[in-house]
Amino acid sequence: MERGADKGVLILAAGIGGAIGSTLAAAVAAMRGSPELVAPYLMTSGRLPQIGEAPDFRLAGWDVRAVSMKEAVAAQGVLEKGLWAPYAEEIAQVPVKAAPSADMGLSAQVEQVKADMAAFQSIYPDMRPVFVNLLPAGSSHDLDRFESLDALYREVASVALPDLVYVLAAVEAGIPVANFTPNMVEIPAVAAAAEKRGVPVAGRDGKTGQTYFKVVLASALRARGLFVNGWYSLNILGNADGENLMDPAHAACKLENKTDVLEDVLGYSPGMKQFGRSAHKVHIDYYPPRGDAKEAWDVIDFESIFGLSMSLRLNLQGRDSILAAPLVLDLARWLSAARAAGRGGLVPELAFYFKKAAGEGAAVGFSDQLAGLDQFEKLLNARLKEDA
Ligand SMILES: NC(=O)c1ccc[n+]([C@@H]2O[C@H](COP(=O)([O-])OP(=O)(O)OC[C@H]3O[C@@H](n4cnc5c(N)ncnc54)[C@H](O)[C@@H]3O)[C@@H](O)[C@H]2O)c1
Repeated sequence: MERGADKGVLILAAGIGGAIGSTLAAAVAAMRGSPELVAPYLMTSGRLPQIGEAPDFRLAGWDVRAVSMKEAVAAQGVLEKGLWAPYAEEIAQVPVKAAPSADMGLSAQVEQVKADMAAFQSIYPDMRPVFVNLLPAGSSHDLDRFESLDALYREVASVALPDLVYVLAAVEAGIPVANFTPNMVEIPAVAAAAEKRGVPVAGRDGKTGQTYFKVVLASALRARGLFVNGWYSLNILGNADGENLMDPAHAACKLENKTDVLEDVLGYSPGMKQFGRSAHKVHIDYYPPRGDAKEAWDVIDFESIFGLSMSLRLNLQGRDSILAAPLVLDLARWLSAARAAGRGGLVPELAFYFKKAAGEGAAVGFSDQLAGLDQFEKLLNARLKEDA
């Protein structure tokens, strides 16, 4: 097991110049001078004392071109300038490297990213690195047939798999992985290698806004025996993620994750009993005026005794990256603790944070997911205490 507490966490983010990455940069910088702006909103504040009482982070990462983080924060516009300007100097110092070129082939790209990871670590030698995948949603690939990394390297040597490049580099370098995207990187070959090397891997698809409240409400309806006949969900968002999701191939995994979660929580498919078909509809629409300020509507039709119907409407006026960034910070702390405690392989205990949690036996209901976190915390703290 790794030793050493309170070193702080070095977040290595792929897609660092995007909406979430730039918000993270501002949050990490603000945390040092004005922790009250960020720390109270983290679930791990005051938890996991073995890896440090106060959350302490640094950030580095990659984007398609090595953008300056100050420019990225300004260009993304998630935060008004007045909110990040006091930390502009620290934000500007976040190291950013260019993504490896897809023309290089899989293993050369992985080697380059591993060298970049080592270079980032040499800037912050005392910190614990955690990799976070923030790349855009991509098309799905069926890579489940590979049981080992060797077979994967042999057969997909020249296929463009940007997410996998970073994930393979992280696992091979012993760096924990959080996959915030809907892209399927937690494939058997990666899970087996991560298990063997004691590297925790958690994913997939951050559960930030509409789906989070869907899990909460569906769990509450189920707990009361209220029967759901239909659930209509609409999202409008105007950031790059929203634009990218207008491509049906890119939206497919996200829509599947957003749809499956309801059946998993309720234990049945709404609409099947009455209409013989699913009445759970999920739509995502790119609507530029909204930028990162995403809006979601849910209409939930349900019934109770005598089959009498009722309905509930939920309107979330959220902020995509403001909801996402604290989850990324929390995931980084959980995974850093898991690595220190020698917990490798897929980590279904972190199901609370994901729409489609990878790993055997991931909890699906709200209270089970929260209880799973508590149990995980106890396990990690006990292991870290033993080791201290
Ligand atoms: N914001 C949320 O609430 C939320 C919730 C769940 C999942 N997600 C997912 O998180 C991911 C990131 O979201 P975002 O809003 O920051 O997206 P974004 O489009 O704003 O950012 C993605 C960034 O990745 C960069 N990029 C593209 N290819 C790259 C490569 N090969 N290497 C390095 N960088 C590359 C892009 O240039 C861009 O800066 C998306 O997959 C999104 O679906 C977001």
